[in-house]
Amino acid sequence: MSLDTKELTKHIKNPRIREMVDGLIKHHAGVKTFSKKTSSTGKYHPDVSNVPDRGIYNHTMLVVYAAQRLIYFYQQKGLLKGDMDSCIISACILHDMWKYETMNGTIAPYSTKDHGLVGYNSIRKWEVPKDLKAARDVIAEMVRFHMSAWCSPVSEKKLANENKDLGVLIVQLADMIASCKELINFGKEA
Ligand SMILES: [Fe+2]
Ligand SMILES: [Fe+2]
Repeated sequence: MSLDTKELTKHIKNPRIREMVDGLIKHHAGVKTFSKKTSSTGKYHPDVSNVPDRGIYNHTMLVVYAAQRLIYFYQQKGLLKGDMDSCIISACILHDMWKYETMNGTIAPYSTKDHGLVGYNSIRKWEVPKDLKAARDVIAEMVRFHMSAWCSPVSEKKLANENKDLGVLIVQLADMIASCKELINFGKEA
């Protein structure tokens, strides 16, 4: 099955934010990234996220589905306004795109601990029209702290835990739910 990243980005409601994310994926060889395993050791994610040809793609789709439920929940409570839904879905799509990239730009054989920060730096460097800068920076921040307590280096972990922004929390929660082996694998043949 071939990978079509538009199947991911179609979930971003705001067309201009969607276009920005499509551009980022294209520029950063996203399809190649999405075909890798989510967990290089196969230990930390459900099986569907570790298939060799579409691991990160499948994981990303699970994160988007989890985020959609959380977004709906918080929208009903009146806590998410404007383009926050599009920013959260965008961050979910981009959050692991730099998973195997190191801070000096090389590609590692294993997933890197600081890929949130690598992603943040790449997104912040992405040139966008003036009126999209705020959305771009909000998305970058969500990608930066998506690993929550597992963020690396230590300074990032501290900042991630101090950050109480609802959008950041939703991306962290969606990633955690989608990474829960017991939840996703439950009921399948051993
Ligand atoms: Fe990650
Ligand atoms: Fe993830």
